Amino acid sequence: MKIIALAASTRDGSLNAALLDVILSELEPDGLELDRVDFRLFEETPHYSARREAEDGFPASMTELAGRIGEAAAMILVTPEYNHGIPGTFKNGIDWLSRISTTVMAPKPTLIGGASAAPYGAWRGMKSLRPAVELLGAHTLPYMISMSGVRSKAEIEARFADPMARVKIDAALGGFRRMLAANEALAARG
Ligand SMILES: Cc1cc2nc3c(=O)[nH]c(=O)nc-3n(C[C@H](O)[C@H](O)[C@H](O)COP(=O)(O)O)c2cc1C
Repeated sequence: MKIIALAASTRDGSLNAALLDVILSELEPDGLELDRVDFRLFEETPHYSARREAEDGFPASMTELAGRIGEAAAMILVTPEYNHGIPGTFKNGIDWLSRISTTVMAPKPTLIGGASAAPYGAWRGMKSLRPAVELLGAHTLPYMISMSGVRSKAEIEARFADPMARVKIDAALGGFRRMLAANEALAARG
């Protein structure tokens, strides 16, 4: 089963890329096939405007991504919080994807995560990502993986090893696994 995953930052030492690494290493034993999206794909995408769409059509970067999402059974989206929302480059890509297909993410189980050195752990960014991707059909999980007050990958790994933090991490990962298994069973029934 293929999953598509991205962290919405290309910064050297990105906390969100590190969080995605750790989530993926947790899921590695599940034997999932991984398609990890380089967020440069979003950075290189022109700003959406109705005029640009009418004159130039869809950017190749986003038609490519829509195809890759279509081939995946599930998604993992890890995002920083920028000004209580998601990075504009990320929202811009979602806007383009919605023009390509309003159901581009249906019905994909979707795990959302976010990391920040700040006390809210990218929570408001993650919360604002939910409705945007749900509109495109993503089946988001109620539990998200939020890492607050972390400054490095080592601190994220330590949080994953902390039994208190583990309760919600396991709820999120367990929910993701259950949704994948349920979808697989449905697909097998035809
Ligand atoms: C433009 C901008 C806006 C930001 N706004 C917020 C914010 O509203 N809340 C917050 O906790 N952190 C905010 N931050 C801090 C980022 O969440 C933090 O730098 C994070 O580590 C970025 O993710 P990355 O490490 O994956 O690159 C902001 C950073 C930038 C560059």
